[in-house]
Amino acid sequence: MALLNILRYPDARLFKVAAPVLKVDDRIRKLAKDMAETMYAAPGVGLAATQVDQHLRLIVIDVSDDKSELLTFINPEILEKDGEQVCEEGCLSVPGIYDKVTRAEHVKVRALDIKGESFELEAHGLLAVCVQHEMDHLVGKVFVQYLSRLKQERIKAKLAKQSRITA
Ligand code: NI
Repeated sequence: MALLNILRYPDARLFKVAAPVLKVDDRIRKLAKDMAETMYAAPGVGLAATQVDQHLRLIVIDVSDDKSELLTFINPEILEKDGEQVCEEGCLSVPGIYDKVTRAEHVKVRALDIKGESFELEAHGLLAVCVQHEMDHLVGKVFVQYLSRLKQERIKAKLAKQSRITA
């Protein structure tokens, strides 16, 4: 078991664009497993490889109450999206900050699982939010970038203060 270090906004490495996974091998399976453990320990409901400084298209999500529905998406693509919902979001890379973001209510995703097999998933509500939030990380986008510039500056100042205290 290995807990991974989670990068904190506004670390420049969070803005990197992840590369596709070329082969689902043991290295990728270990990364996915460590990411799941890191997510559960945080605790959080989703984690993208970008957040642990691994710039590959890999995300893990579990929105269940009892940590029983782990989903691993490798090279995820959104096939369809529709509807609209506003959800109060947070992020393990932006600790203590929550704000409303508007996203699609439904997404249909195609990805590879940890065996390297393709699957499709229809997501609604919180799961759909999570998929969109985590996939944003893979293109270097953090949810606070949907907020006003003023809010983003305030968040940066607040996090800088926190890291001085915990350093
Ligand atoms: Ni996040």
